[in-house]
Amino acid sequence: MSAACISRRNLPFLFLLYLLCLFFVANSDELQVLLNIKTALSNSNTNIFDSWESNNSICNFAGIACNLDGSVKEIELSKQHLTGLVPFDSICELQSLEKLSLGKNLLYGHVTEDLNMCVGLKYLDLGFNFFSGSFPDISSMNGLVYLYANASGFSGTFPWNSLENMTGLVGLSLGDNPFDRTPFPKELVKLTKLNWIYLTNCSIEGQIPKEIGNLSELIELELSQNYISGEIPVEITKLGKLWQLELYENNLTGTLPVGFGKLTSLEMFDASYNHLYGDLSELRFLNQLVSLQLAHNQFSGEIPQELGEFKRLVNVSLYGNNLKGSLPQKLGSWANFDFIDVSENFLTGPIPPEMCKKGTMTQLLMLQNNFTGGIPASYANCTTLTRFRVSKNSLTGVVPSGIWGLPNAEIIDIAMNELEGPITSDIEYAKSLAQLIVSNNRLSGKLPPEISKSSALILIDLGNNQFSGEIPTTIGELKQLSSLHLEDNILSGSIPVSLGFCGSLSDINMAHNSLSGEIPSSLGSLPALNSLNLSDNQLSGRIPARMSSLKLSLLDLTNNRLTGPIPKSLSVGAYNGSFAGNDGLCSKNIKYIRRCSSESGRSGKLNTLIVCFTMGAMAMLVSLGCFLYLKKSQKHHERSWKEDSWDVKSFHLLSFTEEEILDSVKQENLIGKGGSGNVYKVVLANGKQLAVKHIWNSHHSSSRKKLGSTTPMLTKRGGKSREFDAEVQTLSSIRHVNVVKLYCSITSEDSSLLVYEYLPNGSLWDRLHTNRKMVLDWETRYDIALGAAKGLEYLHHGCERPVIHRDVKSSNILLDEFLKPRIADFGLAKIDQANVSKDSTHVIAGTYGYIAPEYGYTIKVNEKSDVYSFGVVLMELVTGKRPIEPEYGENKDILNWVCSKMTSKESVLSLVDSTIPEAYKEEAIKVLKIAILCTSRLPVLRPTMRTVVHMLEDAEPCKLVGIKVTKDGGSEKDELRDKQQKI
Ligand SMILES: *[C@@H]1O[C@H](CO)[C@@H](O)[C@H](O)[C@H]1NC(C)=O
Ligand SMILES: *[C@@H]1O[C@H](CO)[C@@H](O)[C@H](O)[C@H]1NC(C)=O
Repeated sequence: MSAACISRRNLPFLFLLYLLCLFFVANSDELQVLLNIKTALSNSNTNIFDSWESNNSICNFAGIACNLDGSVKEIELSKQHLTGLVPFDSICELQSLEKLSLGKNLLYGHVTEDLNMCVGLKYLDLGFNFFSGSFPDISSMNGLVYLYANASGFSGTFPWNSLENMTGLVGLSLGDNPFDRTPFPKELVKLTKLNWIYLTNCSIEGQIPKEIGNLSELIELELSQNYISGEIPVEITKLGKLWQLELYENNLTGTLPVGFGKLTSLEMFDASYNHLYGDLSELRFLNQLVSLQLAHNQFSGEIPQELGEFKRLVNVSLYGNNLKGSLPQKLGSWANFDFIDVSENFLTGPIPPEMCKKGTMTQLLMLQNNFTGGIPASYANCTTLTRFRVSKNSLTGVVPSGIWGLPNAEIIDIAMNELEGPITSDIEYAKSLAQLIVSNNRLSGKLPPEISKSSALILIDLGNNQFSGEIPTTIGELKQLSSLHLEDNILSGSIPVSLGFCGSLSDINMAHNSLSGEIPSSLGSLPALNSLNLSDNQLSGRIPARMSSLKLSLLDLTNNRLTGPIPKSLSVGAYNGSFAGNDGLCSKNIKYIRRCSSESGRSGKLNTLIVCFTMGAMAMLVSLGCFLYLKKSQKHHERSWKEDSWDVKSFHLLSFTEEEILDSVKQENLIGKGGSGNVYKVVLANGKQLAVKHIWNSHHSSSRKKLGSTTPMLTKRGGKSREFDAEVQTLSSIRHVNVVKLYCSITSEDSSLLVYEYLPNGSLWDRLHTNRKMVLDWETRYDIALGAAKGLEYLHHGCERPVIHRDVKSSNILLDEFLKPRIADFGLAKIDQANVSKDSTHVIAGTYGYIAPEYGYTIKVNEKSDVYSFGVVLMELVTGKRPIEPEYGENKDILNWVCSKMTSKESVLSLVDSTIPEAYKEEAIKVLKIAILCTSRLPVLRPTMRTVVHMLEDAEPCKLVGIKVTKDGGSEKDELRDKQQKI
């Protein structure tokens, strides 16, 4: 259009055109911004960007909302699997932007200071991402109404003063970030519009300020899992709109403040795991409560009867307090009640009968109180129940038969009461039941054959009741059964042959019954059997020869009517006490058992000595127990071993003697020093190598010594090490290819020796970090990671109760001749604790650089603390670095260092050990990601070891990487593998 054509008539039209032009220019800039975002996040697994094309209007882009003038007002890209570095500098060029929503993605890198240029933002969501570094200053965003940055990897100190003038802020969510410790931010208490605050698990310490009472609009206040101490300020009672108050896992003390009952809007209240005390009378008025959780405090007094009238209550968790009195009988009868846990208090009276009135209850947990009366019949119909535990009370009466058949119950635990009646045939409907624990009651009658239809059973404990009749012959159908306790009943008949088909059985106790007939030889084929107690019955016949193949920690056949020779491989020291009270048995070498007729009449002692001599001389493979009593000759030890004061406990069949071990504990055999003691290498006469850990009883005080000098030997030991013995016994029953075998313990008054298998390749630490370092390729590292994970998984999930290692580190992962890993030193921290006197309260275990953060503030250390340490080991494997290195900077560890490099793909790849070839670096990053998950600050966010194993299996190095196909169709890599196997 030329100027000549312009007429007055055209002017308004022109003006419009001008506006349109401006609009277009602005729009083309904004288009460029959006295309920048698309490019930056282009690797994402999303199709939200499909509509983001330059020929499309930006206002039609998915996730974009515009103002009337066509400028971008909102970017809504949450939950889109976005990954990459966010171009905040570019985004903040959008002059009209009010909402930036990037939450729940996989974004990483630093959030740069550029963010502060987004001055018009009202809504900012960066939560649930993988950012690193500190959160930038955002003091220019004074119009901000919602700020979410929770669970996003931010560290350092949050710029609290940025919030100073954000008077319109309604929602603030910064929890679950590894910030540095900080006092409660005073800036917050001026922001009186705040509706909700989520500051869980972000290292807040000190007290809650009393000005919290200014925040009268608060409906949600979440401050759990911090280091908050002091009392709950009375001013909190001014927060009349408060709907949810979460304070669990802090260090709060004092009582519920007077006037707490004014918080009548409160529906969710959780202050579990603090040090609160006093009574619960303030709760009387909180009749809107839906969930009440005050477990693990020191609350006392009675539970207010008003709770029984709360119409909306569905959860009650008050376990681990000092509460007394009875529970309101109408408790839980109004709403869709879900669970109650009032275990470990001093409660009395009957179990409230109507908690399952609405048919929704899942857990009834009332163990360890003093409840009386019967089990209300109403629970027999409560088919939603998964856990029913009322053990350690004073309950009486007949167990309602429907209880046995609850179809969803995973555990029924009524042990240690005075309950009566039979287990009924209803049990065939208990298809989910894994644990049936009814010991120490007055239950009677025959065991119903239908029990074998309850196919999920893992543990049956019927001990110490009055069950009679025969053991159902179909019991062998319980393929998952691991533990069967029938001791102290009046069972008769024979032991069912089918029991030998319960392939998972590890523990059988049928002691003190009236069982007769022969021991079925099928028991000899139970591969996992570890403990067999058939003592005090009327069993007859021979001990089946097939039992020789069992590797038992405990065998007790005493006081039966068994006859014939004891099978040779059972005639070893470890089973010395196992056969007494069977007059018909004979043996070649157990001295208190009658000689089998072909034997000559030599004295037992001489006989034993000759057997030993022969063994020593011939280095025979035949096993001989540690227990062997040998007269020790005086040897030259560095320590003067106390004569005759060694107590030997063996758990595997052993081919060495106590003396051989004691002789070898000397300086020249020292191969390692650890927190819990020195480690010596022992080479037996037969060439077999062992590792012996020598632990000095650290609190072997002079007073104990004095005691020892005046009391008999047995008492001397009894005081110290009963707990120790129990622990060693547990540990030595552990068998897994990725866990070091503990052969036996030898204890004396002032120290203990633990005898382990010896692993020639030392520890992972040595192989990665020391002068004995070797080049480990990625596949080897991966195999070590997976194997070690499986070992820990077994300790956590494969044993009767979880064994927490407490000191997982690369120096406790040993390598065999094929570089296969084995977890060592498991449970030793516990042993150390068992060794110290009872009044020493808190023993911190673990090694600097591997210790999970919760060790600092809670005694509630569990498997997840091991998971954290294992995450650190994974980081070592990937990076080749130690957990602490000077290059990380002061007070920084490998985790800080790894997270600080999560800024770009290049810097992430640079984390991987430089000896690992490029082709495997991506694989290594997969494992690094698992490591980061394992080291989540919040224990609940860490995966279980079971999950870690699954994740690692998913991260198995891809079979196709870098493979050249050779002529005969094989591959170089396969050949390599074959070679490695042959070596
Ligand atoms: C808040 O506003 C006051 C008064 O205008 C000003 O002095 C202060 O610097 C502001 N704070 C921040 C963090 O911007
Ligand atoms: C908890 O508070 C007490 C004082 O009330 C203090 O002595 C203790 O150190 C605190 N513990 C932690 C882990 O903060």
